[in-house]
Amino acid sequence: MPKAHSDIGLIGLAVMGQNLALNIADHGFQISVYNRTVEKTDKFVAENPATPGGLVGAKTLPEFVASLAKPRKMIILVQAGKATDAVIDGLVPLLEAGDIIIDGGNALWTDTIRREKTLREKGLRFIGSGVSGGEEGARFGPSLMPGGEFNAWLELKPIWEAVAAKVDAKTGRPLTGAAPGKPVVGGVPCTTYIGENGAGHYVKMVHNGIEYGDMQMICEAYALMQGLLGLKPAEMGEIFSGWNQGALDSFLIEITADILKQKDPATKRKAFVDVVLDTAGQKGTGKWTSTNALDMGVPAPTIAEAVFARCISAIKDERVAAAKILKGPAKKYRGGKKALVQAIHDALYCSKICSYAQGFQLMRTAQAEFGWKLNFGEIAQIFRGGCIIRAAFLQKITEAYARKPDLANLLLDPYFNKTVQKAQANWRKVVSLAAECGVPAPTFASALAYYDSYRSARLPANLLQAQRDYFGAHTYERVDQPRGKFFHVDWPEPTRPQLPA
Ligand code: 2AM
Repeated sequence: MPKAHSDIGLIGLAVMGQNLALNIADHGFQISVYNRTVEKTDKFVAENPATPGGLVGAKTLPEFVASLAKPRKMIILVQAGKATDAVIDGLVPLLEAGDIIIDGGNALWTDTIRREKTLREKGLRFIGSGVSGGEEGARFGPSLMPGGEFNAWLELKPIWEAVAAKVDAKTGRPLTGAAPGKPVVGGVPCTTYIGENGAGHYVKMVHNGIEYGDMQMICEAYALMQGLLGLKPAEMGEIFSGWNQGALDSFLIEITADILKQKDPATKRKAFVDVVLDTAGQKGTGKWTSTNALDMGVPAPTIAEAVFARCISAIKDERVAAAKILKGPAKKYRGGKKALVQAIHDALYCSKICSYAQGFQLMRTAQAEFGWKLNFGEIAQIFRGGCIIRAAFLQKITEAYARKPDLANLLLDPYFNKTVQKAQANWRKVVSLAAECGVPAPTFASALAYYDSYRSARLPANLLQAQRDYFGAHTYERVDQPRGKFFHVDWPEPTRPQLPA
C-alpha cells in the first residue's frame, strides 16, 4: 500500500537520476519521480514495479509537488546550468516556505551560491550536493557532498546516509552488500555536511580535479612502461593488478588493470587500449578547478597539467603532423625491468601525494574566500568509498587530518613525508629517464617541481622581484629588513637604440 505522500522526489530521469531513485527506493523510501518527457517516467515506473520503498510517477510538476510529504524534499538531476535553472523556475511557484530543493548535478559552485541565496530570499531551502561514483555509484552507493543550510541537511540526512556508499569504520575499506545490489549493512556512510551554500559543489569540483590528476598519472605510468620497457598491455594489466594489492589500491588502478587486460571486442585479437583513439574528452570540472586555482593564486600545477594533457591529446591531427617533423632523443633505456617498474610505482605514488596536497590546499583557501568551515578529515573520509577517487590512500589522508586537523600541507604529515623521503630517488630517476628518453610525463614532472618548490626555503623569486623593480618600479622587500617594508632602486634608463639623426 503506497503512502499518501512520498518521502522525497526526483526530477530528471536520465541514467544518474534513474539509478539514484532506485537506490533511494531500495532503502525503503517512497520516491516520486518526474521527467520533462513523460514517456520516460512511465517506462521507468513500469519497469520497476516492486522496489522496497516504491516509485510514484508524476506526469506534471504540480502533480509531482503535490505528491510529496512536507517539508517537501526534491532532488534535481538534470544537466548542470540552464536546465537546472529552468527546473527551479518551474518549481518555485508550486512550493511553500521551508521546502527543500536538492541539486545533485555537477553545478558550478558559484551557481549554487547564487541559487541558494535567491531561494532563501523566497523562504525556500537549497542544498547543492556533489554526487560522485558515476552510474554505478548512484545505483549502489555514491559519495555525497551536500552543502547548504544546516537545518535543511538535517532533513535530508537520513536519506543521504542510507543511500551513500559505506566503508569499514576501522580500515576505511568500501563495504559491499551480501550480493550485488543488496544494501550494505552497517559501516560508515560516505556523506557528511560539507558547509554553507556552494561548499558541497566546490568540494565535488576539487574531487573531480583530483580525479583528472589520478587518471593522467596512471596514463603516464602506462606510457613509461610502454615507452621505456616496451611492455604489452596484458603484462601491464598484471602489474597494475599487483599494484592494486598495495599502497596504490584504488578503484582507478583496478579498472586500469581490467582495461589493459581487455581484448578488442571487434577484432578479438588486439588489445583493446591499442584500438582506442588517443584523444580524451572533458566536461569542465577539471578546468573549473584549475581556473579557480589561478583565480585564488593557489599552486595546483599538477591538476592543471592533467587538464592540459587532455587538451594536447585533443589536437591529434596537429600531433600527427608534428611527429613527422620534430625529433626526440635517440636514447633508449637499457636497465632492468623490475627495478624500473618499482620506480614508476613510486613516482606515481609520490606524484599522487602532491596532487592531493594541491587539492586540499585549494579547499583550505576556498573556505577563507567563501566563508566556509571545512573539515578536511571528514572530506577525506567520505572520499574513501563510492566515488571515482576511492582508494586505500584516503585512509592515510583521513589519519593525517585526525593527527592534525589544521595541517598546512599533506606533505608535512609524518606519514606522507616519510613515504616521499623513501621513494623520491625512484621518482627523480623516472622523471629524469622520461626527459632523457623523450616520453612525456607532465604530471610526474610537475608534481616533482611542486615538491621541490614547496620544500625550498628560498626560490629564485628574489631575482624575479628585482626584474619587476627594474622595469616597473614594483619595489622589493629585503632579507635583512622586516616584511612589509618596500624598497626601490633607481635603475639606469634601459639603453635604447638611437634613431639616426
Ligand atoms: P528529457 O528526458 O525530457 O530530455 C538529462 O538530460 C536529464 O535532464 C533528462 O532527464 C532531461 O529530460 C532533463 N532536462 C534537460 N533539460 C531540461 C530542461 N530544460 N527542463 C527539464 N528537464 C530537462
